Amino acid sequence: MKFEGSHILSVNQFDRDSIEHVFHVANQMAPYAKRQKRTTVLDGAILGNLFFEPSTRTRVSFGTAFNLLGGEVRETTGMSNSALAKGESLYDTARVLSGYSDIITMRHPDSGSVAEFALGSRVPVINGGDGANEHPTQALLDLYTIQKELQYHGGNIDGLHIAMIGDLKYGRTVHSLSKLLCLFKNVRFTLISPKELAMPDAILSSIENAGHSYTISETLEGNFDADICYQTRVQEERFGSQEEANLYRGKFRLNQQIYTKHFQSKTVIMHPLPRDSRVEANELDNDLNMNPNLAIFRQTDNGVLVRMALFALTLGVESIISKFDK
Ligand code: CP
Repeated sequence: MKFEGSHILSVNQFDRDSIEHVFHVANQMAPYAKRQKRTTVLDGAILGNLFFEPSTRTRVSFGTAFNLLGGEVRETTGMSNSALAKGESLYDTARVLSGYSDIITMRHPDSGSVAEFALGSRVPVINGGDGANEHPTQALLDLYTIQKELQYHGGNIDGLHIAMIGDLKYGRTVHSLSKLLCLFKNVRFTLISPKELAMPDAILSSIENAGHSYTISETLEGNFDADICYQTRVQEERFGSQEEANLYRGKFRLNQQIYTKHFQSKTVIMHPLPRDSRVEANELDNDLNMNPNLAIFRQTDNGVLVRMALFALTLGVESIISKFDK
């Protein structure tokens, strides 16, 4: 895969070699992310960080990653604060904002919107989540985290058993992560969700076509020898009404007692976050916060490394960063 000057819109663009290259560059970012080293490699460069849907982690970590490489960030948040609310097209918005930026990151509530925007952009565009479709940078940071966590336990991604739990229909992170896992060998998927929120058939076909196996369950029962338990939130913003979303919120809770009952003592717990802390929903209980296998905040830290790597690669500076150390 050619990174320099390319948009990053979908995990479908990646093969195993390109993923390993991203992870190799991400590893090199650690001293900069910890502020043990500083670089000005992107001095004078501007990131246009456009978030037309709520975000905490993705928006701030994109900005942080760009700042850590020495660049500056211009942001717009919320549809109502942008000329999109006056009927401007994504194409025109892209033509304009790509004149103000060296690279653009974007989240939008509609599937396919970031790709549509990219058609009008004169600079690389990175998808920060488009509706229920994809969240490629989250999938890359999830996979990076999985690799690091498994290496800690002496394993690797080939042969992985992952349990995905919750809203597998609207959760774009599980769609993108599943597609990336299809690039590896002998992955087992256990997919646990209400049948109305099941993994889409297209993703199941991808899993089958890649020669992997999956089992589907509507309940969290029995013992899972899963290496990774990937919990998700009910994506209530994608339902027709709050009442409909309420039918599923709180259905698949994970707390220390349930974890001990159903999972191995070394099963790594992941969640893309945010987790819903409201008591009626709460799919990942605070009583897991001291569990050493809870990797959710290692995921968020890894997000900065992976996003730094993607900026460096798409702007073609990955091999000269240390020349700009100060
Ligand atoms: N995981 C994730 O996309 O979080 P935000 O919605 O806070 O960006």
